[in-house]
Amino acid sequence: MSEGLSVRPLDDRRELLALMMRSWGSHRMMIGIRTYDCAEIDALALYSADGLTLAMASWTMDGPYAVLCALHALEQRQGAAKTLLDAVKAAARARGASKLKAMLTNDNIPGMIFYQLQGFRFSGLYVEAIDHYRSVIPTIIETGYQGIPVHDALELEIEL
Ligand SMILES: CC(C)(COP(=O)(O)OP(=O)(O)OC[C@H]1O[C@@H](n2cnc3c(N)ncnc32)[C@H](O)[C@@H]1OP(=O)(O)O)[C@@H](O)C(=O)NCCC(=O)NCCS
Repeated sequence: MSEGLSVRPLDDRRELLALMMRSWGSHRMMIGIRTYDCAEIDALALYSADGLTLAMASWTMDGPYAVLCALHALEQRQGAAKTLLDAVKAAARARGASKLKAMLTNDNIPGMIFYQLQGFRFSGLYVEAIDHYRSVIPTIIETGYQGIPVHDALELEIEL
């Protein structure tokens, strides 16, 4: 990690919840067939030397696996998400997780590039899962990256 940066539990969880509401329309996230409330599970952040939040992540254990429910960089392409993901992987390993799972919606091309370059492999496709989820939580976004309609969930995982 670059000098001066630090990873620690998120100081103010409202920062993550507000970002999730803006970018996703809920602070609940679905991974596979389960949902997780980021208001209730572990949250880590990467901070700059002067205390600015550079990236935030939310994760928890689910049986033998860890699930990454949110990963957001506040400044893109500065390596913040990669640094924080490495910290989440270390924390998950320390709790005994054998795999880390994540979810992307079908529009999220930057996320697909990012996770695959970090070594994640696709492990599931849930066609129309987001449409079904939206019928329960109507605030879930309708369109995402470059206006692509959001319908499906893609699950990824990496061995720890
Ligand atoms: C996906 C996301 C987390 C990546 O965060 P980031 O801090 O910009 O990523 P990093 O700087 O650590 O990127 C590491 C590598 O991933 C790849 N990458 C990341 N974003 C990319 C993009 N938009 N386009 C192409 N490649 C990308 C690059 O190879 C990058 O290395 P490089 O910049 O040296 O070329 C960020 O775009 C984000 O917050 N998106 C919104 C939330 C989200 O969709 N999260 C994922 C699902 S929860």
